[in-house]
Amino acid sequence: MKGKIAVVTGAGRGNGRAIASRLAAEGATVVVGDLDEGAVKELAAEADAAGAGKIVAMRCDVSQEDDVEALFAEAERLGGPHAVVAQAGAILEATLEETTPEQWDRFLSVDLRGTYLCARAAIPRMRALGGGSIVNMSGTYAYLPERGVAVQAAAKGAIMSLTRALAVELGPDRIRVNCIVPGYIETPMVAHWADKHPDPAAVRAAAGGLHSLRRMGTPEEIAAMALFLCSDESSFSTGHPYHVDGGLAAGMNYTGNRPEDA
Ligand SMILES: NC(=O)c1ccc[n+]([C@@H]2O[C@H](COP(=O)([O-])OP(=O)(O)OC[C@H]3O[C@@H](n4cnc5c(N)ncnc54)[C@H](O)[C@@H]3O)[C@@H](O)[C@H]2O)c1
Repeated sequence: MKGKIAVVTGAGRGNGRAIASRLAAEGATVVVGDLDEGAVKELAAEADAAGAGKIVAMRCDVSQEDDVEALFAEAERLGGPHAVVAQAGAILEATLEETTPEQWDRFLSVDLRGTYLCARAAIPRMRALGGGSIVNMSGTYAYLPERGVAVQAAAKGAIMSLTRALAVELGPDRIRVNCIVPGYIETPMVAHWADKHPDPAAVRAAAGGLHSLRRMGTPEEIAAMALFLCSDESSFSTGHPYHVDGGLAAGMNYTGNRPEDA
């Protein structure tokens, strides 16, 4: 990634933080945006202090067009973007019936509209550079949902379809578009969810048990896939979902129950 400029959204913690750190360690200059400005500033300072690459931190709400435009204007000023990982996302534990119209709109405005706004800001800039790589964040809920994840399933399915449509539209411009499909990954999002239950250790173990490898994944394992898809190592890959799911979607481990029901 030496000499490349990358953009990563939702880099304040979890998967995004690991992705930004890995891309920076591999030589990219990484422009990171997150709602939590303090968290991304800390990430940039840490990378700087450790001599682990260059990270430029900005506050960005990916649902807001002006914020996203400012993030990509910075990447352009630095000579990019060559790669984008659009992965800021939220969690909403509610059945469709429980989901209010306001929650529905807010969730999709981050997960789906945020993905759209990032692609829209990246496309003309990547075209001007002669190509690039866009990596979106889907999830196994796209086709293996559980009870209580309706809006997340809708968002992740839409992101997978959008990824294919963009790959078709942008192939002639040498812009590749792929998405990552994680299983359960041990991020603060998942830790927060597990800790809300009376026996967090049991819920964690049950979540791990959904995967063929009988454990949850790590943000670093997601970052390794993001690096592959951002780099020229994946130069003939576009339009596809790339699973990092420990075999969750491979077979009959999957019960359709939530881990806390096991
Ligand atoms: N952790 C998992 O098991 C898992 C599984 C499948 C998919 N994913 C996806 O991976 C992505 C990252 O998830 P995570 O587990 O690291 O989550 P996380 O909650 O640990 O981190 C998400 C980050 O995104 C930021 N963010 C939230 N809303 C934002 C907004 N509007 N604009 C900018 N930044 C915003 C948060 O501040 C936070 O830093 C999400 O798209 C999520 O759906 C995660």
